[in-house]
Amino acid sequence: MKLATSSYSYSSVTPIHSVFLHKNRRKLSFNIFQGTSSSTTASNSTSTSSSTQTHQLLSTPAAMVSSLRTHRHAHYPPPWFSVAPMMEWTDNHYRTLARLISKNAWLYTEMLAAETIVYQKDNLDRFLEYSPEQHPIVLQIGGNNLENLAKATELAEPYKYDEINFNCGCPSPRVAGHGCFGARLMLDPKFVAEAMSVIAAHTDAPVSVKCRIGVDDHDSYNELCDFIYKVSSQSPTRHFIIHSRKALLNGISPAENRSIPPLKYEYFYGLLRDFPDLRFTINGGINTVDEVNAARRAGAHGVMVGRAAFQKPWHTLGHVDTAIYGAPSSGVTRRQILEKFQVYGDSAVGKYGRKPTVRDVARPLLGLFHSEPGNGVWKRKADAAFLHCTTMKSFFEETLVAIPDHVLDSPIGEPSSGGEDPFANIHTLLPPAYESREQELLYA
Ligand SMILES: Cc1cc2nc3c(=O)[nH]c(=O)nc-3n(C[C@H](O)[C@H](O)[C@H](O)COP(=O)(O)O)c2cc1C
Repeated sequence: MKLATSSYSYSSVTPIHSVFLHKNRRKLSFNIFQGTSSSTTASNSTSTSSSTQTHQLLSTPAAMVSSLRTHRHAHYPPPWFSVAPMMEWTDNHYRTLARLISKNAWLYTEMLAAETIVYQKDNLDRFLEYSPEQHPIVLQIGGNNLENLAKATELAEPYKYDEINFNCGCPSPRVAGHGCFGARLMLDPKFVAEAMSVIAAHTDAPVSVKCRIGVDDHDSYNELCDFIYKVSSQSPTRHFIIHSRKALLNGISPAENRSIPPLKYEYFYGLLRDFPDLRFTINGGINTVDEVNAARRAGAHGVMVGRAAFQKPWHTLGHVDTAIYGAPSSGVTRRQILEKFQVYGDSAVGKYGRKPTVRDVARPLLGLFHSEPGNGVWKRKADAAFLHCTTMKSFFEETLVAIPDHVLDSPIGEPSSGGEDPFANIHTLLPPAYESREQELLYA
């Protein structure tokens, strides 16, 4: 197993706020969790704590906000690994699961449109509330209206997200087609700089941009550098997350836009070389902790993983704390995770009338047994159970019988290794160095 180049402890970590230069200012009471292994017996000792857990996971909004305040300036693990923002995927339910598996991963919310926040200002908890355990957590917002971006950031401020990220990479027609929004914004760096300045002026948190390496024919390395240069020189943005493929706004689907345009990691590493004062997180096509560590060894400040972290949460996130952060193994099992998730889930189901449903809450669990014995049967049982189950408890009772005890009770094994290092020769492939035409660019 590969370990991180340096191990860390919370106390020795530089606070994120100084890393990113800042601007102006268990055991459940039913049988499915009573497996035969010793780890189950161990978790029995916590059987009386479910109400406490519920309290810890979901407290009242006021208590939550005050609790969040105390977390914002805490010392966090460095953002070496983050889970990408993914609409309809990285919701509160998924993030709750992710945090139960990895204590160190940075978690991004799904994109929230500034307009949603502004128009739902009397209903903000539904969109912005999260449990304190989810720190470090980054809110991603999207939009093209400075006033709404300002207002949305201001409205989100009491929730004390650890960073505010602005979406300049989404190619979805629902987003990109509506004027200048998402990936299209890369064509208007001046606006992005204005937006970032406005966002930064309404939060105490650091701000960052997530973008592609280009859009349509505007895909040269120099154009990407011009974008980074203008945004970073005209706004407080010091952190860029680079989805290392361009966006095609020609009508192909968002999913195709995450596979058809080729990955060009050499552009990412070119940015590291040409903008040494900025911080860059690499994203796109990175699926294993080995690849994450390889990207970091090649120089990336951070690595963001999207689909793999959702589709195979156990096999991806399960290795993050040990193989990337050098922490000792927690020995946690999926049974223990599900026990806690049930407590969360039963507090969440129906919180807003008929929503969320058991299906909504349980969806992130569907990849938990990826490639394990019983996975197919469990998914079929889950599909059937979604039709009538109204509690997570009954959902688990009905479905988890498909998963053998040894699967539920094993801690994560060693990460599989031996794949090709996609970054092995990256420094021999870099594009020619960027030469900014400073005056020309500043007034463009
Ligand atoms: C279902 C889905 C929804 C996504 N929604 C967002 C989003 O809200 N904001 C964003 O910046 N990127 C979004 N993305 C893109 C991811 O953040 C990430 O950039 C992309 O999946 C590439 O990373 P990966 O290869 O590790 O999956 C989404 C991706 C998926 C699969």
